Amino acid sequence: MTVPLTTRLLQADAAAAAEAARILAEGGLVAFPTETVYGLGADATNGRAVARLYAAKGRPAFNPLIAHVVDLKAAQALARFNPKAAKLAKEFWPGPLTLVLPKAAKCRVADLATAGLDTIAVRVPNHPIARDILAAFGKAVVAPSANRSGHVSPTRAEHVRADLAGRIDLIVDGGPTPVGVESTIIACIGEPVLLRPGGLPRAAIESALGRKLAYAPSPMVGADEAPLAPGMLAAHYAPRTRLRLGANRVEPGEALLAFGANPAEGSKRAKSMLNLSARGDLIEAAANLFSHLRALDEAGASAIVVMPIPAEGLGEAINDRLTRAAAPR
Ligand code: TXA
Ligand code: MG
Repeated sequence: MTVPLTTRLLQADAAAAAEAARILAEGGLVAFPTETVYGLGADATNGRAVARLYAAKGRPAFNPLIAHVVDLKAAQALARFNPKAAKLAKEFWPGPLTLVLPKAAKCRVADLATAGLDTIAVRVPNHPIARDILAAFGKAVVAPSANRSGHVSPTRAEHVRADLAGRIDLIVDGGPTPVGVESTIIACIGEPVLLRPGGLPRAAIESALGRKLAYAPSPMVGADEAPLAPGMLAAHYAPRTRLRLGANRVEPGEALLAFGANPAEGSKRAKSMLNLSARGDLIEAAANLFSHLRALDEAGASAIVVMPIPAEGLGEAINDRLTRAAAPR
């Protein structure tokens, strides 16, 4: 049924941004870098384009998408901001923060993109190429991470090509993404609630709000009910190889995802070893997380042993992704 597309790859520059905007306006699919991970963009107001996007990703249709816009004013055309939402937006946008808000009455985003919810996730990315594309296009762009559903998020154009070549129109290559994990998602329907830890550390948000944040990872609540954060499905971020988390010993045939200066016992016999950050830097570790997982997944190991990652700062998001990746499926 779906005719394979020719997926073009352009190096990021002004001409590539203009071409991306032209393709989006025609209902096409464009992958582009944001500061967190590569996104797969479609015109948010074009239901057909959004449907093509779900198909290209093989994503369950109930999973709503984040609308990306160029500034707060454009976001206010899509969603209603209570005072705390406005405060977070002013403090952290552009940046790796997504706000889930009540949809504005005049919001023209396709229902398919919000999976029928009366809330919408919005974000103003802080990456020059994403911003150039949004400015050239002049409308909201829905963009999930540019991976096939169930695979890890792409942090390089090569990852996008490996997953989506032949299924999308254009990949704009802007090099590796600096943050490396997805945006932090906060619901601001009433009091702010953390739905997904991510690239903006929880502590920064708590200090802006002057209070602790509740964490509500909402599991799927049943097929016929609209989920609050369906992307929190246990098996969402998943390499094929089994993961063994928080381990300090490598058995023969296993691969090692190390962290810090002292590799786990038996690391010499690891089938393959990569270090998230030899100097124990969680920001560097986040930036390496998905590409290292992908690389070790190719090693043909019986398991990927992951050393303990401290739970502070970006460590919370890293551990969250690792726990999902390790969930039985
Ligand atoms: O960093 C990011 O956020 C990247 C880049 C490309 O911007 N995007 C990204 O999108 O991670 P995606 O689709 O892979 O994850 C978005 C998450 C999903 O878990 C989805 O269920 C949740 O946001 N979400 C979207 N709209 C929602 C809503 N109205 N209520 C609750 N959760 C929502
Ligand atoms: Mg994703």
